[in-house]
Amino acid sequence: MFDNIIDFIQDIYQTKDFIPLHEPRFFGNEKKYLNECIDSTYVSSVGMFVNEFEDRIANYVGTKYAVSTSSGTSALHVSLLLANVERGDEVITQPLTFVATCNAISYCGAYPVFVDVDRDTMGLSPVALREFLDSNTTISNNKCINNSTGKVIKACIPMHTFGNPCKVDEIKVICDEYNICLIEDAAESLGSLYKGKHTGTYGEMGIMSFNGNKIITAGGGGCIVTDNEALAKQAKHLTTTAKIPHKWAFNHDQVGYNYRMPNVNAALLVAQLEQLDSFLNSKRKLASHYKAFFTNKRIDFVTETEGAKSNYWLNVLILDNLEQRDLFLEITNAAGVMTRPVWALMSKLPMFKDCQKGNLSNAEWLEDRAVNIPSSVI
Ligand SMILES: Cc1ncc(COP(=O)(O)O)c(C=O)c1O
Repeated sequence: MFDNIIDFIQDIYQTKDFIPLHEPRFFGNEKKYLNECIDSTYVSSVGMFVNEFEDRIANYVGTKYAVSTSSGTSALHVSLLLANVERGDEVITQPLTFVATCNAISYCGAYPVFVDVDRDTMGLSPVALREFLDSNTTISNNKCINNSTGKVIKACIPMHTFGNPCKVDEIKVICDEYNICLIEDAAESLGSLYKGKHTGTYGEMGIMSFNGNKIITAGGGGCIVTDNEALAKQAKHLTTTAKIPHKWAFNHDQVGYNYRMPNVNAALLVAQLEQLDSFLNSKRKLASHYKAFFTNKRIDFVTETEGAKSNYWLNVLILDNLEQRDLFLEITNAAGVMTRPVWALMSKLPMFKDCQKGNLSNAEWLEDRAVNIPSSVI
């Protein structure tokens, strides 16, 4: 029954061979810049491509600063440390996310608290967030105290799921009201805007990932974007082993991390960033083909919500129920068209199952129905 979908996707990618979910594209200056990087011998953590990439990505998203990191996960970890998240604290996030969001919270010795997503954006719901905070917390000494655990809720990490912006302006207002630091997990949403402003730039800090499956990639890498000079400086310091800059002396003033992005990765990223706009155009075209195909079919194709401009990183279909979802996954994957369910909800994973959660009915609804379909640049 899904044969016409398989034919359609094979037509789009003009192949009957295996079609992956998201393949990187290296159409530009990647090899040229890599050669320049190798010739310079500066392949490691200092070098002109690191600085150039940081300048260019900050300029692209519209923040004053960007600090490159070894991965999106390390960017999240450092952002949480800079938000002063400490052992025993709590951080609100959504259950529908990649495990890295919650792992980073755990690296700080803190606990995730799960609040539901909206069905349309698939990201943290401001209504559910307010509801949770209103009924479960008290502000005391400018801190947001969770009444049931007595712990401090220090930060909130909404995620722009599959590139689809969540209602982050409303989330920001609520976080400000409750003295909670807003860190956006924009790992998947480079190129996505909400109300004309780049995702990742509403929060005190935003993070991005350049893992192999992302819209632009260096194989691995990440960054923190912020307008706050002190945070940017601290982020650079912490991600570079907290070494006090000096021509020859090795001195470190706190426990730091080796979370630097190597210059080779930055060389690749400078080339990838040059192509981002054309990747975004291609992905919008692909999404519009999918939208036209799925209109009037019994399967919903997820499109951007009002005020949002999605990068359509991974396209999403909503099937009728779990049975239909599994049938769809079975048939498409057997035909060599890669499709995937969304992540198992974080609130169900063994290491997070005892963490506090609100009503997660939208996340559960999506978990049973949403699938990703091939989304590589065409
Ligand atoms: C939502 C989300 N957060 C964080 C990450 C972590 O990024 P990385 O793989 O670069 O560590 C990813 C992707 O990998 C992600 O999709």
